[in-house]
Amino acid sequence: MNYETLRVDIDNRIATITLNRPNKRNCMSPQLHREMTDLLEKLRYDDNVSVLVFTGAGEAFCAGMDLKEFFFETKDSPARFDEIFRTACEWRGRTLRYYPKTTIAMINGFCFGGAFSIVEGCDLAVAANNATFGLSEVNFKLFPGGTVSKSLANLLRPREALFYALTGRPFDGTEAARIGLINYAVPASELRTFTMDIAQEIAQKDLTALRATKDGYRYALEMSWDASINYTLAKQVELKSLQASMESGDWVEAGINDFLKGEYKPGLETHGQSAQRRS
Ligand code: COA
Repeated sequence: MNYETLRVDIDNRIATITLNRPNKRNCMSPQLHREMTDLLEKLRYDDNVSVLVFTGAGEAFCAGMDLKEFFFETKDSPARFDEIFRTACEWRGRTLRYYPKTTIAMINGFCFGGAFSIVEGCDLAVAANNATFGLSEVNFKLFPGGTVSKSLANLLRPREALFYALTGRPFDGTEAARIGLINYAVPASELRTFTMDIAQEIAQKDLTALRATKDGYRYALEMSWDASINYTLAKQVELKSLQASMESGDWVEAGINDFLKGEYKPGLETHGQSAQRRS
């Protein structure tokens, strides 16, 4: 996988995707959007990958959209703007949100504007407590456009969303955790280990169960009560059939059986790992 704007490292079922334009603070150029689209398509079908971790090279996570290549150079070319806009919205707003694998944003530094939609599109997010976040658009007479307004509405309470969008004031990782934009803020020196521990914990679980967990949550958000119950019921049948067709034949029943035999406690550990430890 050779990309100019991205680096990909796969280890222990975890793909770490590094936005790799450090000299431009990893802002998202049209090329980055195209390469990310291609990469996410490839990783979707890579059986060696269960979890994706997004981070940035150098001192930034992502400085938002590339103001030069996205806004400035397209100002006389509405069709070109539209093409980039659609690609940019699609991978952050839809592909990430419904991605069949778990996604984690590991925010190591500057995180501005359009980068909020990467953070929100990911299932989980951890930042260095000295990372700098900001909805800077209003500072240059713009507003959080594209996917960003919806990302704010999805994740933040109205007071904080509007406060930071209207003032454009920067804030740190600790504040990002307080307002619920991320799960945890940790010292920069511990960011990678802390995030990778979470990724590793999730990567050891059953991929089909993880996907059902995420689908059940994501789609329920947009459904009525009755429809979501009906959906998860159908999902349960799908999960059983998917797991039964797997080579290991190890579906949910194995875990319940071991619990009933008194050999395993689902509340305390992942099924399969305890069995391995015992043998
Ligand atoms: N779009 C285009 N280029 C960007 C960029 C962006 N969003 N963010 C940073 N860059 C470029 C700078 O133009 C500069 O390029 P150059 O070296 O060719 O001149 C390079 O990245 C380094 O930026 P610089 O401002 O010198 O770094 P810094 O560490 O002092 O400041 C930021 C970093 C992120 C605070 C600052 O670059 C910034 O405010 N960027 C814009 C962030 C923003 O508002 N994003 C929202 C976009 S929707």
